[in-house]
Amino acid sequence: MSISIKCIGVLTSGGDAPGMNAAVRAVVRTSSFYNIKCVAIYKGYQGLIDNNTKVMNPRSVNNIINKGGTILKSARCLEFRTPEGRKKAFETIEKQNIDALVVIGGDGSFTGAMIFQSEFKIPVIGIPGTIDNDIYGTSHTLGYDTALNTVIDAIDKIRDTAISHNRLFFVEVMGRDAGHIALNTGIGAGAEEILIPEENMGLERLLDSLSRSEKSGKSSSIVVVAEGDKTGKNVFEIAEYVEKNLPHYEVRVSVLGHMQRGGSPSCFDRVLASRMGVQAVESLLNGDSNVMVGLKEDKMILTPLDKAIKGKSKINKNLIRVSDILSI
Ligand code: F6P
Repeated sequence: MSISIKCIGVLTSGGDAPGMNAAVRAVVRTSSFYNIKCVAIYKGYQGLIDNNTKVMNPRSVNNIINKGGTILKSARCLEFRTPEGRKKAFETIEKQNIDALVVIGGDGSFTGAMIFQSEFKIPVIGIPGTIDNDIYGTSHTLGYDTALNTVIDAIDKIRDTAISHNRLFFVEVMGRDAGHIALNTGIGAGAEEILIPEENMGLERLLDSLSRSEKSGKSSSIVVVAEGDKTGKNVFEIAEYVEKNLPHYEVRVSVLGHMQRGGSPSCFDRVLASRMGVQAVESLLNGDSNVMVGLKEDKMILTPLDKAIKGKSKINKNLIRVSDILSI
């Protein structure tokens, strides 16, 4: 291992995700294991600009492995998108003698990391943290598994009231550009239909399907809609359209929103975060930079950041078929 890295900075950026704390813990403790100083940067890139930092030790991250959110706080920082902002950020890097950075976040955070790396030649490693699972180079992003379980739990509860009132519920889940959450929770919760950003199933098909469901004897139904679904209508507009065309249905909408980002991380996310944190520090010490750590076939892999950002994390189209067969 190279000895040129004596201090690693770690930050969380973009939308928070369960498991970020477990990843911070892993980065701090692995740094200490290799006798490397670790500096926490608060509020994402804003903390770099403002020199909002703290030297960490293994005890600074006690009792956080089970906590949702991020103890380092997070932000979507507009100032870091400017050359002036990044220059200020680099002043903090120099002041704190930070030799390398671990950035825990999604594609926006990685874009910032890449630009910063190319301008100031500071080694950077990304850990994918977002509930959307929309990053190429890993089968799972941090927080995705926990979010799936949170959504399933919520839809199960909605099902209870849907059955009691013979209602049709439209449940909106997160996923601006990706249908992973909608598709998997839709199958897991036994939804009648699932609307996602990747495929346009069309509103006519939705009407047909709901009419068929009713004729086959179903008295209540659940349709899972991803935030960014391809019909181009939002969940309220879709519900209104269905209510107008199938007036016998009593329709309700439930938007799950930010509760999907909170909560204690699942065991899967805690283990994933721990593995990714160890891998990130060891990769930096091995001289890797400008890459993201990811999970593939139960192994840690590295993917160049630009590929992770630009590549598509494709949905599994077979899941659409499974849903179609099972929702008869
Ligand atoms: O990227 C994760 C995500 O949760 C998206 O699914 C959602 O569209 C977005 O963040 C919401 O972001 P914000 O919390 O900034 O409103």
